[in-house]
Amino acid sequence: MRKLLIVYGTTEGQTQKIAQFLAQEAHLRDYDCEAYNAEMLPADISPSQFSKIVVAASVHMERHQAAIARFVERYLPDLDKAQALFLSVSLSAAGNPEEKYEAWEYTRQFLTDAGWRPTQVQIVAGALRFSESDFFKRWAMRRLAKEKRADHEHDFEYTDWAELRRVLKDFLDLPASDKGSPSART
Ligand SMILES: Cc1cc2nc3c(=O)[nH]c(=O)nc-3n(C[C@H](O)[C@H](O)[C@H](O)COP(=O)(O)O)c2cc1C
Repeated sequence: MRKLLIVYGTTEGQTQKIAQFLAQEAHLRDYDCEAYNAEMLPADISPSQFSKIVVAASVHMERHQAAIARFVERYLPDLDKAQALFLSVSLSAAGNPEEKYEAWEYTRQFLTDAGWRPTQVQIVAGALRFSESDFFKRWAMRRLAKEKRADHEHDFEYTDWAELRRVLKDFLDLPASDKGSPSART
């Protein structure tokens, strides 16, 4: 059976939900899939045993989770050998073209800092979960919602699941020979 590894970083849970969705979809496509939160990786994980790897992280204050940066740094040679898809989950990805540009900028910055060139990269619209957040977070989220003109205080999920299914299908359908260019770590 073909093997897919998913490693994700999540702060409020949306990227975990996305990882679970991708794992189910991959399973339907006959992939043997393992999904892990980057904060709780098993000590004996061996990414080199997977032919395809999805790394997903969400954006907070313009940055992706440090645990994901650590995973990429540690396993860069394995990520380069496999086919890898990087998903950057943010609110900006749900916005207008200017905001989407911002989402690509966070992504570009993360990948430049990591010295990683994944085979495929995609920005993904996340969610705002006011109800599950504490006072300070709600305050930060209200500011963010205002900035992004997401003018409500109710939980809202922007993730386009059909689009995500298509992105995963394209990635899983990539011929084994298509590895993209290797990472350039300086
Ligand atoms: C405190 C906070 C800061 C955020 N900062 C940004 C940001 O700088 N840019 C952005 O596009 N989205 C930002 N977001 C939106 C998150 O990326 C979005 O809610 C995403 O779905 C979170 O995914 P997670 O639940 O997996 O952590 C922020 C959200 C919170 C709660």
